Amino acid sequence: MIKISILISLASLLAVYFIATPPVEPPTTSQPNEGCLIIQAKRMIRDSKDLIPISGTIHVGADGKIEKIADYYDLHGCQRIINTGDDIVMPGMVDTHVHVNDPGRTHWEGFLTVTKGAAAGGVTTVIDMPLNSLPPTTTVENLDIKMKTSVNQTFVDVGFLGGVVPENKNDLLPLLNAGVLGFKSFMINSGVQEFGAVDESHIETALNILKDHDIVYMFHAEVEVLELEQEIQDLIKNGNGSHYATFMKSRPPRMEVEAIRKVVELCKDKLTRCHIVHVATDEALSEMDGVSSETCTHYLFFTSESIPDGATQYKCCPPIRTAANREGLWNGLRSGVLSMVTSDHSPSPPDLKNNDFFKSWGGISSLELSLSALWTQASIRGFTFSDLVKWKCEEPAKLVQIHDRKGTIRKGLDADFVIWSPDESYVLDARKKRMFHHKHPLTPYDGRALKGVVNMTILRGVVVFTREGDVIENPTGKVLKGRYSIN
Ligand SMILES: *[C@@H]1O[C@H](CO)[C@@H](O)[C@H](O)[C@H]1NC(C)=O
Ligand SMILES: *[C@@H]1O[C@H](CO)[C@@H](O)[C@H](O)[C@H]1NC(C)=O
Ligand SMILES: *[C@@H]1O[C@H](CO)[C@@H](O)[C@H](O)[C@H]1NC(C)=O
Ligand SMILES: [Zn+2]
Repeated sequence: MIKISILISLASLLAVYFIATPPVEPPTTSQPNEGCLIIQAKRMIRDSKDLIPISGTIHVGADGKIEKIADYYDLHGCQRIINTGDDIVMPGMVDTHVHVNDPGRTHWEGFLTVTKGAAAGGVTTVIDMPLNSLPPTTTVENLDIKMKTSVNQTFVDVGFLGGVVPENKNDLLPLLNAGVLGFKSFMINSGVQEFGAVDESHIETALNILKDHDIVYMFHAEVEVLELEQEIQDLIKNGNGSHYATFMKSRPPRMEVEAIRKVVELCKDKLTRCHIVHVATDEALSEMDGVSSETCTHYLFFTSESIPDGATQYKCCPPIRTAANREGLWNGLRSGVLSMVTSDHSPSPPDLKNNDFFKSWGGISSLELSLSALWTQASIRGFTFSDLVKWKCEEPAKLVQIHDRKGTIRKGLDADFVIWSPDESYVLDARKKRMFHHKHPLTPYDGRALKGVVNMTILRGVVVFTREGDVIENPTGKVLKGRYSIN
């Protein structure tokens, strides 16, 4: 305690020193550095090692990369300066779990509306899941269609995951060479017929094919448990499908736990990195041996006890569980078993959601709220900005091996930033286009009080969103390719 208070008084002395120092002379270079930018920040978190916000300047070159990080009054070399006031400056967020649905299901969502919301929410990198678009990302030809569709349609950078499905083992290495950032499989019905579930032998084959590459293989880890099948079928047949509890009971924690055990066993001693997406049950946390895992914002925000009858905007798989389970997941983040938080943004048109949980599409729309929804709950539990940077920037970038470009504020990396106000709150009205930029206003966060407001988003040195001016008109996002890409 004594040490901390000494540190704090030292820090405030330093702060007083810096504030008292008169600003340096304006830059005297005769050649203005076109396209450059300096962010002058009182409170920035460069990476999760910054346990408290530090002050400084970030110098951005015309190439959109970070040239240097210097002290607060170093404004040399560039005339264009953004002073961020009391706002927090963080690396732009990286979301490795987004369903864009484009092409093919663009009436559900699409590159323009996904990335508009991303830009407004401070997410500067979106990694697209390989399913829900038509075609799915399971062959090079399909990947090519997806990449071409995204050109000039994204307000932030976009990368792609490839799918591992029963019939595409010969497409995996070609997909890697065409630039995918990882792979994903379903161990249970995916909800769409064109993306089949894999069994153990498919997983084994894929692990062997991928073993010489440092690439992530992600799993939707839920399996059908034989012993529970009768009970679940009875629930679906006789239960009241508009009651949330009925739906929740039909996807018990055991379905997750057994799937994760299977992945852990299959990945043991294998060289491929295995990752469990959207962990929803705290019972599974003790199973994560040698695999990484994420949870999603909605499992950390909502609780089953408070989901009204028929409110299928809350439906997702695995389901949102109890309040006690939610605390268990927060503890998993605290202990580090869960290393990141993704959105699993997976919207649908309102008509695919009726008041029956069994008959509605499962998926929650939330990408734009990634920061505010998470901060609302994290801040009341004592988590810090440093934790946010770990969960939302650093770890996701590492997962898909783009940490040489994204996820921290460091010399040589892309100048992607989110500048936000952590103490301001607002109530979401999803029908207001300036508040929620996604294609459909249907989201369980509608009407909720959220804490944390994004003021500005910067992508490779370009301001792509300001609170006053909204998202810019022309999309400047690019396609990100993985390290095994050969073109
Ligand atoms: C943040 O938002 C406030 C209120 O809209 C505005 O006055 C301020 O200039 C913004 N800061 C930045 C860095 O844009
Ligand atoms: C994308 O935009 C650039 C710059 O405006 C333009 O040169 C290019 O032709 C566009 N590409 C497509 C496929 O629309
Ligand atoms: C199912 O529950 C809803 C909401 O509680 C109720 O209105 C409806 O009548 C129930 N349906 C049946 C078949 O019991
Ligand atoms: Zn998903």
